[in-house]
Amino acid sequence: MRVIECDSQDQAADLAAREILQALERKPDLVLGLATGSTPIGVYERLARAKREGRADFSRVRTFNLDEYVGLPADHPQSYRTFMRTHLFDHVDIRPSNVHFPPVDGADLAAACADYERQIADCGGIDIQILGIGSNGHIGFNEPTSSLASRTRLKTLTDKTLADNARFYGPGDEQPQLATTMGIATILAARRILLQSFGQKKAHAVRAAVEGPVSSFCPASALQLHPDVTFLLDGDSAALLTMRSYYRRVRENELRLGQR
Ligand code: PGA
Repeated sequence: MRVIECDSQDQAADLAAREILQALERKPDLVLGLATGSTPIGVYERLARAKREGRADFSRVRTFNLDEYVGLPADHPQSYRTFMRTHLFDHVDIRPSNVHFPPVDGADLAAACADYERQIADCGGIDIQILGIGSNGHIGFNEPTSSLASRTRLKTLTDKTLADNARFYGPGDEQPQLATTMGIATILAARRILLQSFGQKKAHAVRAAVEGPVSSFCPASALQLHPDVTFLLDGDSAALLTMRSYYRRVRENELRLGQR
C-alpha cells in the first residue's frame, strides 16, 4: 500500500493524472475504472487538458464506471452518466461505444449485473481503477457490511451516504435510495488502484481503511489485500493516520530513488 500525503488536492490530482497518462502512452486501449463525486474532478480536468493540448489520445480507451443510481434517467442532472459527460466524456475523444455503466433497469437486473462483469472481463480487466472513499468507508456504493467477495449488484444506500449526498438535491427532489455498483471483488480485480481522499470528514474512514483491520464494516479496508494501491491524501484526510511520519519518509525515499 502506498500512502502519499500530498501538499494539496491539486498535487494529488496531478499525480493521479500523470499515472493515468503514462499508462495510456504504454497502452492506447487502456481500460479505466471511473469514479464520480467531487474527489475525481481534478483528475478529469487534467485528462481533458491533456487531450486539448494534444498530449493524449483516448480514442481506444475503454471505461467502466463504478456505480449508478437506480431510478434516475440517464439525462437527469444527478445521474452519474450526466456527471461523466460534464466532467470528462464531453472533453475527450472516448468513443460512446467504449463507455460502460452498471445496468440500472431491465427485467433481470441481476443478470444484467453479471453481464457487466463479463464486459469488464471481455476487455481484459480494468488496468487502473480511480476511487474516492465515503465518510463511512464505502468504495463505489459498497456500503459497510458489503461482502468483500461481492460483484456488481444492487445496493441500498445507507443513511450516512444519503445524508452526505443530500446537498445535490433540492427540497422537492426525490433522492434515489438504490444504486448498482461494482462489488469489492470487482474493484480488487483491477490491476492498479488510485484512491484519492480530501478533507477532514474522511479522516476516520482513511485511518480505518489504511490502518484498521480488514473488515466489511469499512469496505475500503479490503484494499489492504490488493498488491498495487496508492492512497493520495491531502493533509486533512491524513490527519488521523498513526504512522503519518513513516508514510512521509517512505515517500521521500521513493522520490530520492526516482521511483514513480
Ligand atoms: P465525494 O464522494 O468524492 O463526493 O467525497 C466520494 C464517495 O462517496 O465515494
